[in-house]
Amino acid sequence: MTRKRPLIIAIDGTSGVGKSTVARRLAQELEVPFLETGAMYRALGLKVAELALDPADQESVERLAAELDLELRHRADGGVDVLLDGMSLGERARRPRISEVTSAISTYPGVRRIMVQHQRSFAEELGAVVEGRDIGTKVFPDTPFKFFLQAPLETRVQRRLKQLEASGESDLSQEELAREVAERDHRDSTRAESPLTVNSSYRVVDTGSLSVEQVVQAILSEIDQLS
Ligand code: DC
Repeated sequence: MTRKRPLIIAIDGTSGVGKSTVARRLAQELEVPFLETGAMYRALGLKVAELALDPADQESVERLAAELDLELRHRADGGVDVLLDGMSLGERARRPRISEVTSAISTYPGVRRIMVQHQRSFAEELGAVVEGRDIGTKVFPDTPFKFFLQAPLETRVQRRLKQLEASGESDLSQEELAREVAERDHRDSTRAESPLTVNSSYRVVDTGSLSVEQVVQAILSEIDQLS
């Protein structure tokens, strides 16, 4: 008997483009888990900061990645908790300092190899909406369902600012945050290993001018047509 392939939806794009919100809603609609891969890299970033390791020390960071106590646990609502040392990450992993460390350490091949292994073994079991930077290019290049979300920098900065204000995790000004997001975009897109790139196998969705529901409906109808 041939086994039905699990449904894997790749959602890639820059920071603050609305990937997580859209991916969570899509996963609810499709009744598959939602995996936020940025949270996995952030878990390592958090651990690097907690241990006061130098993010530039590639060898130590890669060794730490191999030993990291990272667990992906299904929640009853379809979400997936990323647990570090048995504890949920929560908002502490979204602090600007951790974002910076995470962007640096996610450039290392030894780090990416381990995260990709976790992501594949998780999603290949039940299927998933998987959100990140390299999901359609590296992690699941064979899935036909790839979406690249984009929006102007100003829109993304405004969204991030709202998130950070709501959680009380940052007192960065809009200008500082814009600089930080632009630097991160640049690093994520120009790194040698699995950079954020879009190619013709993706459907590009502009989230700047659409509501979350409109984006979700647009993607669902594409999935329907591609199925
Ligand atoms: O999506 P996010 O902002 O939470 O991601 C945090 C960092 O992790 C970001 O700098 C890019 C990196 N990342 C990555 O390199 N590959 C992924 N699949 C997901 C995130």
